[in-house]
Amino acid sequence: MAKKKTARSSAAKPDLKWFSDARFGMFIHWGLYALPARHEWVKRQERITTEDYQKYLDHFDPDLYDPRAWARAAKHAGMRYFVITTKHHEGFCLWDSKFTDYKATLTPYGKDLLKPMVKAFRDEGLRVGFYHSLIDWHHPEFPVDHIHPQGEDKAFRKAEAKRDVRKYARYLHNQTRELLTQFGKIDIMWFDFSYPGGDGKGHDDWQSAKLLKMVRELQPGIIVNNRLDLPGKPDIMTPEQYVPIEGPRDEKGKPLAWEGCQTFSGSWGYHRDEASWKSVPMLVEMLIDHVSKGGNLLMNVGPTGRGNLDQRALNSLKGYGDWMALHSRAIYGCGAAPDGVQAPPDCRYTYNAKTKRLYLHLLAWPFGAVHLDGLAGRVEYAQLLNDASEIRMRDSSTEVNAALNAATPQGNITLELPVLKPDVVVPVIELFLNK
Ligand code: GLC
Repeated sequence: MAKKKTARSSAAKPDLKWFSDARFGMFIHWGLYALPARHEWVKRQERITTEDYQKYLDHFDPDLYDPRAWARAAKHAGMRYFVITTKHHEGFCLWDSKFTDYKATLTPYGKDLLKPMVKAFRDEGLRVGFYHSLIDWHHPEFPVDHIHPQGEDKAFRKAEAKRDVRKYARYLHNQTRELLTQFGKIDIMWFDFSYPGGDGKGHDDWQSAKLLKMVRELQPGIIVNNRLDLPGKPDIMTPEQYVPIEGPRDEKGKPLAWEGCQTFSGSWGYHRDEASWKSVPMLVEMLIDHVSKGGNLLMNVGPTGRGNLDQRALNSLKGYGDWMALHSRAIYGCGAAPDGVQAPPDCRYTYNAKTKRLYLHLLAWPFGAVHLDGLAGRVEYAQLLNDASEIRMRDSSTEVNAALNAATPQGNITLELPVLKPDVVVPVIELFLNK
């Protein structure tokens, strides 16, 4: 008896090993909001009624949709998993759910969008995650609250006062069951989001504990994010649109698994007129920064209403791909530097504890030398990662070449750098630590 119990509870444990090795994933926000093309919250931002929003369903026809092209773009960028919005706050479902008629199969396009997507990404070797909105601005039993598009319409609120959140919760649970039983192995379930207090919604409304139990039973090993409003240690933390100063920790100071979710341009859904697209160097630096703090980066794309990725998104992904082609060794399987090892100014460290290689990412290229504190006597060999060319070192802990060592501060090693910055967005020096 006792044995059986242990087996079951370990099967229910989230499988975080692949996740922290992968480090880099693609978020995809795709729904009807790709048509207005001015933010996935457009229904709320412009207080659009469900009747007026209907035109987007009636004209949803992504004729260029080719999920294999998305999957290839993700893979070439170096991404190892993806998380797709099965349903966003607008309520539109990408798959042929039997619990609603607000779904892809009933648009002019007329086909399930999720099945071929899951297959395409799996075929490219990527893991599969489902984002599923807890919020639903289409469902007739979802109680109207302050963030609902008609939340400020007093007459509407009054007319809709009888909405029953328990009926909505049943819908939420039923659809979650569909998602976790009809698409094979699902690696991540990404619920979004809770806002308890006032007329907001939290774990009682979603019946989160019951929901989570079902999720873990249906998909042992699945990773569930932290937005169900439940107490206790979540599988992963999900900071959004900012990079934390340092990785989050639990009350005992132990690092928590985390994944920052970020956008290329501010909006998650396709936004035609958004101008604040991040540069490739900034994007690459963000990836490095996340991993240097022990986190993953889930970078978002918002495909268009025709079903393709626009040129801006493709350029950004290519920027990642070019850098990752030479530097992925400094990302996969890596995390924060060993305790007490601090990166010098304008640099980040990532560290592969298995291979004992420390990666120095130089965000700015200094003249002639860089001094690394705390590494005296600890480095066996150093090379540029992009071309495996040796980087000569001076070590303050050795007596050899005393004249040069005079320039190396105590406890440091000094790396001798070429004047010309290597022709890559962020150069990386691979340091082989003594075993
Ligand atoms: C927010 C937003 C949303 C987006 C999500 C991604 O909670 O509501 O539009 O999907 O963050 O993390």
